Amino acid sequence: MKYFNDLADSGIAELKELIALARRLDDKPEPRALEGKVLSLLFLSPSLRTLISFQSAMVRLGGGTFVVSPDMSIHGLESRSGIIMDGVAAEHIREAVPVIASYGDAIGIRAFAKRENLNNDLADREFRELTALVDTPYINMESAINHPCQSLADWKTMDDLGIPANGGKLVLSWTWHPRPLPFAVPAATVHMAALRGMDVTVLRPEGFELPDAIMDKARQAAAMSGGSVTETDNRSSAMQDSRVLYVNSWASARHYGNKCAEDEIKPELRDWCVDEHWFENAVSDCRFMHCLPVRRGVAVTDRILDGPRSVVITEARNRMLVQMAVLHQMLSSS
Ligand code: CP
Repeated sequence: MKYFNDLADSGIAELKELIALARRLDDKPEPRALEGKVLSLLFLSPSLRTLISFQSAMVRLGGGTFVVSPDMSIHGLESRSGIIMDGVAAEHIREAVPVIASYGDAIGIRAFAKRENLNNDLADREFRELTALVDTPYINMESAINHPCQSLADWKTMDDLGIPANGGKLVLSWTWHPRPLPFAVPAATVHMAALRGMDVTVLRPEGFELPDAIMDKARQAAAMSGGSVTETDNRSSAMQDSRVLYVNSWASARHYGNKCAEDEIKPELRDWCVDEHWFENAVSDCRFMHCLPVRRGVAVTDRILDGPRSVVITEARNRMLVQMAVLHQMLSSS
């Protein structure tokens, strides 16, 4: 495997193999599988789970990691092309990224959406520019428009819980958040659930429709797998017979890069905070999923997060397991 960037790059059978390998590595650890291998971790955006789960995954397989982020005492990094570097930044990513990559056998890169230009972010322009600078295998640890490790972990979580793939209904719902958040997780989630063969409903208020490029990609996946993808602002019909409520927040594409304009349409949406009444029409054991971090009392109540519906900790642990599988396939010589 030369890169792990998008579930769409793999066939459904390959993804199922990765999940089976994740399960096998959990049951029968291979503490020497990646002995002597090094994973470089470049975090241009913050993290808790991704950082630690990759470190833990490498240690459990016998390898090692090093982490680079702008918060460390590195030289300020410049990313603009053609810039005269007479400001604060002393090093350009064009040198820094290949140097970092050269110290490892593979590199994981995290670079969130800049949220200035929608088309650039939908095209994952910055991430593509970064990966073009490395000649080792690379892993997308969340880019402007994708979070494949999260999605693979979520797929495994649903398998673990016995949530049906074909015919199982998943609602991906927008919730209120004080800041306009990127499309990476909703885009990856709607695509993953469609690829898994689920009937996916995107639930969001007017103004927070997912961009066509995201919905079209998910619909293509659904056409392949026998799933379906619809979109609505009607909570009670969306939740009818749902097996999973997957929650996230994302920016308004209509006001992309303009927080003030988005703020004007948001005050009336504070009730988009998940509580038990959201589940009235769902199946009785409908699960609550979220990639974390999540704001308590803003996106979801304590009662749901601390209650039996929530599987957020399982999702987080599965990050480590599926990443072990990805690293094993990428770096193991056997
Ligand atoms: N879900 C996830 O990627 O978490 P972090 O942002 O903490 O890495």
